[in-house]
Amino acid sequence: MFTPVILAGGSGSRLWPLSRQGFPKQFLALDGQGMGSMLQRTLARLDGLEHADPLVVGNEQHRFVVAEQLREAGRNCRRIILEPVVRNTAPAIALAALEAGRDGDDPILLVLPADHHIADDAAFREALLVAGRQAHAGRLVTFGITPTHAETGFGYIQCGDEAAAGGFDIAAFKEKPAADLAEQYLQAGNYLWNSGIFMFRASLLLAELECLRPDILASCRAALEHAEADRDFLHIPAEQFALCASESVDYAVMEHTALGLVVPLDAGWSDLGSWAAIWDAGPRDAEGNRLEGDVLSIATCNSLVQARHRLVATLGVEDLVVIETKDAVLVAHRERTQQVKEIVERLQAAQ
Ligand code: GDD
Ligand code: MG
Repeated sequence: MFTPVILAGGSGSRLWPLSRQGFPKQFLALDGQGMGSMLQRTLARLDGLEHADPLVVGNEQHRFVVAEQLREAGRNCRRIILEPVVRNTAPAIALAALEAGRDGDDPILLVLPADHHIADDAAFREALLVAGRQAHAGRLVTFGITPTHAETGFGYIQCGDEAAAGGFDIAAFKEKPAADLAEQYLQAGNYLWNSGIFMFRASLLLAELECLRPDILASCRAALEHAEADRDFLHIPAEQFALCASESVDYAVMEHTALGLVVPLDAGWSDLGSWAAIWDAGPRDAEGNRLEGDVLSIATCNSLVQARHRLVATLGVEDLVVIETKDAVLVAHRERTQQVKEIVERLQAAQ
Protein backbone atom coordinates (compact mmCIF):
# COMPACT_ATOMS: atom_id res chain seq x y z
CA MET A 1 0.00 0.00 0.00
CA PHE A 2 1.36 3.41 -0.92
CA THR A 3 0.16 6.95 -1.63
CA PRO A 4 0.98 8.31 -5.08
CA VAL A 5 2.21 11.91 -5.18
CA ILE A 6 1.81 13.32 -8.65
CA LEU A 7 4.07 16.27 -9.51
CA ALA A 8 2.19 18.34 -12.04
CA GLY A 9 3.52 21.85 -11.53
CA GLY A 10 6.26 22.15 -14.15
CA SER A 11 6.20 24.46 -17.14
CA GLY A 12 7.38 22.12 -19.95
CA SER A 13 8.95 25.02 -21.78
CA ARG A 14 11.14 22.87 -24.05
CA LEU A 15 8.01 21.64 -25.81
CA TRP A 16 6.98 25.07 -27.04
CA PRO A 17 4.87 25.93 -29.07
CA LEU A 18 2.55 23.08 -28.11
CA SER A 19 3.26 23.31 -24.39
CA ARG A 20 2.28 26.75 -23.07
CA GLN A 21 2.42 28.30 -19.64
CA GLY A 22 -1.37 28.10 -19.34
CA PHE A 23 -1.51 24.52 -20.60
CA PRO A 24 1.86 22.77 -20.19
CA LYS A 25 3.14 19.38 -21.23
CA GLN A 26 1.63 17.26 -18.43
CA PHE A 27 -1.88 18.13 -19.62
CA LEU A 28 -1.20 17.22 -23.26
CA ALA A 29 -1.52 13.85 -24.98
CA LEU A 30 2.04 13.44 -26.21
CA ASP A 31 2.84 9.78 -26.49
CA GLY A 32 0.84 9.34 -29.67
CA GLN A 33 -1.15 6.43 -28.28
CA GLY A 34 -4.46 8.31 -27.90
CA MET A 35 -4.72 7.23 -24.27
CA GLY A 36 -5.26 10.55 -22.56
CA SER A 37 -3.00 13.28 -21.28
CA MET A 38 0.35 12.61 -19.63
CA LEU A 39 -1.29 13.22 -16.25
CA GLN A 40 -4.10 10.78 -17.00
CA ARG A 41 -1.64 8.17 -18.29
CA THR A 42 0.44 8.55 -15.13
CA LEU A 43 -2.57 7.67 -12.98
CA ALA A 44 -3.71 4.86 -15.25
CA ARG A 45 -0.27 3.25 -14.92
CA LEU A 46 -1.11 2.49 -11.29
CA ASP A 47 -4.29 0.56 -12.07
CA GLY A 48 -4.32 -2.85 -10.47
CA LEU A 49 -1.89 -1.83 -7.74
CA GLU A 50 -3.04 -1.45 -4.18
CA HIS A 51 -2.72 2.26 -3.44
CA ALA A 52 -4.46 5.10 -1.60
CA ASP A 53 -6.02 8.03 -3.44
CA PRO A 54 -3.25 10.17 -4.89
CA LEU A 55 -2.09 13.59 -3.81
CA VAL A 56 -1.60 15.85 -6.81
CA VAL A 57 0.71 18.85 -6.42
CA GLY A 58 0.30 21.49 -9.09
CA ASN A 59 0.13 25.19 -9.73
CA GLU A 60 -2.79 27.37 -8.73
CA GLN A 61 -3.15 28.62 -12.29
CA HIS A 62 -3.85 25.08 -13.55
CA ARG A 63 -6.39 24.04 -10.92
CA PHE A 64 -9.32 23.72 -13.29
CA VAL A 65 -7.33 21.74 -15.88
CA VAL A 66 -6.15 19.31 -13.20
CA ALA A 67 -9.63 18.89 -11.71
CA GLU A 68 -11.22 18.47 -15.13
CA GLN A 69 -8.67 15.89 -16.29
CA LEU A 70 -9.11 13.85 -13.10
CA ARG A 71 -12.89 14.02 -13.47
CA GLU A 72 -12.74 13.08 -17.16
CA ALA A 73 -10.58 10.04 -16.37
CA GLY A 74 -12.87 9.05 -13.47
CA ARG A 75 -10.04 9.35 -10.93
CA ASN A 76 -10.44 10.15 -7.26
CA CYS A 77 -7.75 12.04 -5.45
CA ARG A 78 -7.13 12.79 -1.83
CA ARG A 79 -6.14 16.40 -2.42
CA ILE A 80 -4.99 18.72 -5.16
CA ILE A 81 -2.33 20.83 -3.46
CA LEU A 82 -2.05 24.16 -5.27
CA GLU A 83 1.16 26.17 -5.19
CA PRO A 84 0.83 29.92 -5.74
CA VAL A 85 4.35 30.15 -7.23
CA VAL A 86 6.79 27.64 -8.74
CA ARG A 87 9.41 26.54 -6.19
CA ASN A 88 10.66 23.33 -7.83
CA THR A 89 10.32 19.77 -6.54
CA ALA A 90 11.76 19.81 -3.00
CA PRO A 91 9.03 22.11 -1.63
CA ALA A 92 6.34 20.35 -3.73
CA ILE A 93 7.32 16.96 -2.27
CA ALA A 94 7.66 18.41 1.23
CA LEU A 95 4.11 19.80 1.05
CA ALA A 96 2.81 16.38 -0.04
CA ALA A 97 4.74 14.54 2.68
CA LEU A 98 3.45 16.93 5.36
CA GLU A 99 -0.11 16.70 4.06
CA ALA A 100 0.08 12.89 3.84
CA GLY A 101 1.05 12.76 7.51
CA ARG A 102 -1.56 15.27 8.66
CA ASP A 103 -3.73 12.72 10.52
CA GLY A 104 -0.82 11.00 12.18
CA ASP A 105 -0.37 8.61 9.24
CA ASP A 106 3.04 7.84 7.82
CA PRO A 107 2.45 6.33 4.39
CA ILE A 108 4.97 5.20 1.81
CA LEU A 109 4.91 7.81 -0.96
CA LEU A 110 5.46 7.08 -4.64
CA VAL A 111 6.47 10.36 -6.26
CA LEU A 112 5.64 10.42 -9.94
CA PRO A 113 6.30 13.26 -12.36
CA ALA A 114 3.06 13.74 -14.32
CA ASP A 115 4.87 14.08 -17.63
CA HIS A 116 6.87 10.90 -18.21
CA HIS A 117 6.36 8.16 -20.77
CA ILE A 118 6.73 4.49 -19.80
CA ALA A 119 6.21 1.98 -22.58
CA ASP A 120 6.17 -1.18 -20.48
CA ASP A 121 3.79 -0.75 -17.55
CA ALA A 122 4.31 -4.35 -16.38
CA ALA A 123 8.07 -3.87 -16.03
CA PHE A 124 7.40 -0.65 -14.14
CA ARG A 125 5.18 -2.47 -11.67
CA GLU A 126 7.86 -5.15 -11.15
CA ALA A 127 10.35 -2.45 -10.21
CA LEU A 128 7.76 -0.93 -7.87
CA LEU A 129 7.60 -4.16 -5.87
CA VAL A 130 11.33 -4.03 -5.18
CA ALA A 131 11.17 -0.31 -4.43
CA GLY A 132 8.24 -0.79 -2.04
CA ARG A 133 10.22 -3.37 -0.05
CA GLN A 134 13.18 -1.04 0.23
CA ALA A 135 11.06 1.98 1.10
CA HIS A 136 9.55 -0.04 3.95
CA ALA A 137 13.07 -0.92 5.05
CA GLY A 138 13.92 2.78 5.45
CA ARG A 139 15.54 3.70 2.15
CA LEU A 140 15.03 6.68 -0.13
CA VAL A 141 14.46 4.86 -3.37
CA THR A 142 14.88 6.21 -6.87
CA PHE A 143 14.49 4.40 -10.17
CA GLY A 144 17.53 4.29 -12.45
CA ILE A 145 17.65 4.22 -16.23
CA THR A 146 20.57 2.82 -18.25
CA PRO A 147 22.04 5.89 -19.97
CA THR A 148 22.29 5.94 -23.76
CA HIS A 149 24.12 9.25 -24.23
CA ALA A 150 25.83 12.01 -22.26
CA GLU A 151 22.62 13.92 -21.47
CA THR A 152 23.29 16.90 -19.21
CA GLY A 153 19.67 17.47 -18.19
CA PHE A 154 19.50 14.43 -15.90
CA GLY A 155 20.82 13.30 -12.54
CA TYR A 156 23.53 10.59 -12.59
CA ILE A 157 23.63 7.84 -9.99
CA GLN A 158 26.78 5.87 -9.28
CA CYS A 159 25.75 2.34 -8.30
CA GLY A 160 27.41 0.94 -5.18
CA ASP A 161 26.91 -2.48 -3.61
CA GLU A 162 23.98 -4.61 -4.62
CA ALA A 163 21.40 -4.69 -1.80
CA ALA A 164 20.10 -8.04 -0.58
CA ALA A 165 16.43 -7.03 -0.97
CA GLY A 166 17.04 -5.65 -4.48
CA GLY A 167 18.54 -2.55 -6.07
CA PHE A 168 21.90 -0.90 -5.40
CA ASP A 169 23.20 1.46 -2.75
CA ILE A 170 23.74 4.91 -4.20
CA ALA A 171 27.49 5.52 -4.05
CA ALA A 172 27.17 9.05 -5.46
CA PHE A 173 24.45 11.20 -6.98
CA LYS A 174 25.32 14.07 -9.29
CA GLU A 175 22.48 16.23 -10.56
CA LYS A 176 22.81 17.72 -14.06
CA PRO A 177 26.59 17.35 -14.58
CA ALA A 178 28.54 19.37 -17.13
CA ALA A 179 28.98 17.70 -20.54
CA ASP A 180 32.51 16.37 -19.87
CA LEU A 181 31.46 14.79 -16.57
CA ALA A 182 28.33 13.29 -18.15
CA GLU A 183 30.57 11.74 -20.80
CA GLN A 184 32.89 10.30 -18.10
CA TYR A 185 29.90 8.81 -16.27
CA LEU A 186 28.60 7.28 -19.48
CA GLN A 187 32.00 5.70 -20.21
CA ALA A 188 32.41 4.46 -16.62
CA GLY A 189 29.52 2.05 -17.12
CA ASN A 190 28.32 1.94 -13.49
CA TYR A 191 26.10 5.02 -13.60
CA LEU A 192 22.36 5.21 -14.13
CA TRP A 193 20.21 8.23 -14.98
CA ASN A 194 17.86 9.32 -12.25
CA SER A 195 14.32 8.89 -13.57
CA GLY A 196 12.90 11.44 -11.13
CA ILE A 197 10.48 8.81 -9.75
CA PHE A 198 10.96 8.24 -6.01
CA MET A 199 9.58 6.04 -3.26
CA PHE A 200 10.07 6.57 0.48
CA ARG A 201 8.26 6.84 3.78
CA ALA A 202 6.86 10.36 4.27
CA SER A 203 8.54 10.81 7.67
CA LEU A 204 11.93 9.75 6.28
CA LEU A 205 11.90 12.40 3.57
CA LEU A 206 10.86 15.00 6.15
CA ALA A 207 13.65 13.89 8.53
CA GLU A 208 16.21 14.19 5.74
CA LEU A 209 14.93 17.65 4.84
CA GLU A 210 15.07 18.65 8.50
CA CYS A 211 18.75 17.72 8.45
CA LEU A 212 19.71 18.96 5.02
CA ARG A 213 17.34 21.85 4.27
CA PRO A 214 15.48 22.90 7.42
CA ASP A 215 14.68 26.23 5.74
CA ILE A 216 12.61 24.52 3.02
CA LEU A 217 10.79 22.36 5.55
CA ALA A 218 10.02 25.34 7.80
CA SER A 219 8.61 27.38 4.90
CA CYS A 220 6.43 24.47 3.79
CA ARG A 221 5.17 23.86 7.33
CA ALA A 222 4.28 27.53 7.73
CA ALA A 223 2.56 27.60 4.34
CA LEU A 224 0.51 24.48 5.11
CA GLU A 225 -0.59 25.90 8.44
CA HIS A 226 -2.22 28.77 6.60
CA ALA A 227 -3.51 26.73 3.66
CA GLU A 228 -7.19 26.90 2.76
CA ALA A 229 -9.14 23.80 1.86
CA ASP A 230 -11.91 24.12 -0.71
CA ARG A 231 -13.46 20.83 -1.89
CA ASP A 232 -10.50 18.77 -3.26
CA PHE A 233 -8.29 21.84 -3.49
CA LEU A 234 -5.78 22.89 -0.90
CA HIS A 235 -4.67 26.45 -1.64
CA ILE A 236 -1.15 27.19 -0.40
CA PRO A 237 -0.83 30.87 0.54
CA ALA A 238 1.73 33.00 -1.33
CA GLU A 239 2.64 35.00 1.75
CA GLN A 240 4.50 32.05 3.31
CA PHE A 241 5.32 29.89 0.28
CA ALA A 242 6.92 32.69 -1.76
CA LEU A 243 9.62 32.88 0.92
CA CYS A 244 10.58 29.24 0.34
CA ALA A 245 13.83 28.52 -1.51
CA SER A 246 13.39 27.15 -5.03
CA GLU A 247 15.29 23.86 -5.15
CA SER A 248 14.85 20.43 -6.66
CA VAL A 249 14.73 17.35 -4.44
CA ASP A 250 17.76 16.09 -6.34
CA TYR A 251 19.99 18.94 -5.17
CA ALA A 252 18.32 19.33 -1.77
CA VAL A 253 18.24 15.67 -0.70
CA MET A 254 19.38 13.04 -3.18
CA GLU A 255 22.90 14.43 -3.66
CA HIS A 256 23.54 14.35 0.11
CA THR A 257 21.52 11.57 1.72
CA ALA A 258 23.25 8.41 2.96
CA LEU A 259 20.01 6.43 2.64
CA GLY A 260 19.66 6.45 -1.15
CA LEU A 261 18.99 3.26 -3.06
CA VAL A 262 18.46 2.85 -6.79
CA VAL A 263 16.23 0.26 -8.42
CA PRO A 264 17.06 -0.20 -12.10
CA LEU A 265 14.07 0.42 -14.35
CA ASP A 266 14.06 -1.07 -17.83
CA ALA A 267 10.57 -0.14 -19.04
CA GLY A 268 11.00 2.08 -22.09
CA TRP A 269 11.16 5.21 -19.92
CA SER A 270 11.40 8.66 -21.45
CA ASP A 271 10.82 12.04 -19.84
CA LEU A 272 9.65 13.35 -23.22
CA GLY A 273 11.72 16.32 -22.18
CA SER A 274 12.31 17.72 -25.65
CA TRP A 275 10.99 17.31 -29.19
CA ALA A 276 13.98 15.06 -29.89
CA ALA A 277 12.94 12.80 -26.98
CA ILE A 278 9.41 12.60 -28.39
CA TRP A 279 10.77 11.67 -31.81
CA ASP A 280 13.04 9.14 -30.12
CA ALA A 281 10.22 7.51 -28.13
CA GLY A 282 8.66 6.51 -31.51
CA PRO A 283 6.69 5.24 -33.39
CA ARG A 284 8.52 6.11 -36.63
CA ASP A 285 8.08 5.06 -40.26
CA ALA A 286 10.67 3.38 -42.52
CA GLU A 287 12.34 6.75 -43.23
CA GLY A 288 12.66 7.41 -39.53
CA ASN A 289 9.91 10.04 -39.56
CA ARG A 290 7.15 10.67 -37.09
CA LEU A 291 4.46 12.55 -39.02
CA GLU A 292 1.26 13.63 -37.30
CA GLY A 293 -1.74 15.40 -38.83
CA ASP A 294 -2.00 16.73 -42.38
CA VAL A 295 1.63 16.27 -43.43
CA LEU A 296 3.06 15.67 -46.90
CA SER A 297 6.71 14.67 -46.83
CA ILE A 298 8.93 13.93 -49.81
CA ALA A 299 12.58 12.94 -49.47
CA THR A 300 12.39 13.65 -45.76
CA CYS A 301 14.02 11.53 -43.10
CA ASN A 302 14.56 11.27 -39.35
CA SER A 303 12.16 14.13 -38.71
CA LEU A 304 9.22 14.92 -36.46
CA VAL A 305 6.46 16.89 -38.20
CA GLN A 306 3.15 17.79 -36.55
CA ALA A 307 0.37 19.69 -38.34
CA ARG A 308 -2.71 20.74 -36.44
CA HIS A 309 -4.42 23.47 -38.41
CA ARG A 310 -3.05 23.38 -41.93
CA LEU A 311 -1.15 21.23 -44.36
CA VAL A 312 2.57 21.05 -43.71
CA ALA A 313 4.80 19.86 -46.56
CA THR A 314 8.50 19.06 -46.29
CA LEU A 315 10.92 18.35 -49.12
CA GLY A 316 14.55 17.27 -49.09
CA VAL A 317 15.20 17.73 -45.40
CA GLU A 318 16.48 15.57 -42.58
CA ASP A 319 16.77 15.70 -38.79
CA LEU A 320 14.12 18.42 -38.55
CA VAL A 321 11.43 19.17 -36.03
CA VAL A 322 8.42 21.09 -37.38
CA ILE A 323 5.61 21.82 -34.92
CA GLU A 324 2.68 23.72 -36.36
CA THR A 325 0.13 25.22 -33.97
CA LYS A 326 -2.58 27.85 -34.40
CA ASP A 327 -0.44 30.87 -33.58
CA ALA A 328 3.17 29.71 -33.82
CA VAL A 329 5.35 27.33 -35.84
CA LEU A 330 8.63 25.85 -34.64
CA VAL A 331 11.24 24.72 -37.17
CA ALA A 332 14.34 23.36 -35.45
CA HIS A 333 17.23 20.99 -35.96
CA ARG A 334 16.45 17.80 -34.05
CA GLU A 335 19.73 18.04 -32.14
CA ARG A 336 19.07 21.57 -30.92
CA THR A 337 15.65 21.08 -29.39
CA GLN A 338 16.96 21.36 -25.80
CA GLN A 339 17.41 25.04 -26.64
CA VAL A 340 13.72 25.62 -27.37
CA LYS A 341 13.67 26.88 -23.78
CA GLU A 342 15.70 29.86 -24.99
CA ILE A 343 12.95 30.79 -27.45
CA VAL A 344 10.46 30.82 -24.61
CA GLU A 345 12.78 32.93 -22.45
CA ARG A 346 13.20 35.45 -25.29
CA LEU A 347 9.48 35.62 -25.86
CA GLN A 348 8.85 36.16 -22.15
CA ALA A 349 11.51 38.89 -22.00
CA ALA A 350 9.87 40.66 -24.94
CA GLN A 351 6.43 40.66 -23.32
N1 GDD B 1 4.17 20.72 -8.15
C1 GDD B 1 5.27 21.05 -8.74
N2 GDD B 1 5.86 22.25 -8.42
N3 GDD B 1 5.80 20.24 -9.67
C2 GDD B 1 6.95 20.64 -10.27
C3 GDD B 1 7.60 21.85 -9.98
C4 GDD B 1 7.01 22.70 -8.98
O1 GDD B 1 7.48 23.80 -8.67
N4 GDD B 1 8.70 21.95 -10.75
C5 GDD B 1 8.74 20.84 -11.49
N5 GDD B 1 7.68 20.04 -11.22
C6 GDD B 1 7.36 18.74 -11.78
C7 GDD B 1 7.48 18.72 -13.29
O2 GDD B 1 6.18 18.92 -13.88
C8 GDD B 1 7.98 17.32 -13.54
O3 GDD B 1 6.90 16.43 -13.61
C9 GDD B 1 8.81 16.97 -12.30
O4 GDD B 1 8.33 17.85 -11.29
C10 GDD B 1 10.32 17.12 -12.47
O5 GDD B 1 10.62 18.46 -12.76
P1 GDD B 1 11.50 18.86 -14.02
O6 GDD B 1 11.63 20.33 -14.05
O7 GDD B 1 10.97 18.18 -15.25
O8 GDD B 1 12.90 18.24 -13.61
P2 GDD B 1 14.09 17.89 -14.57
O9 GDD B 1 13.61 17.15 -15.76
O10 GDD B 1 14.88 19.12 -14.82
O11 GDD B 1 14.99 16.91 -13.67
C11 GDD B 1 14.42 15.83 -12.92
O12 GDD B 1 14.00 14.77 -13.75
C12 GDD B 1 15.05 14.09 -14.48
C13 GDD B 1 14.43 12.97 -15.28
O13 GDD B 1 13.45 13.44 -16.12
C14 GDD B 1 15.50 15.36 -11.93
O14 GDD B 1 14.90 14.48 -10.99
C15 GDD B 1 16.66 14.66 -12.64
O15 GDD B 1 17.56 14.11 -11.69
C16 GDD B 1 16.10 13.54 -13.51
O16 GDD B 1 17.17 12.91 -14.23
MG1 MG C 1 11.71 16.79 -16.57
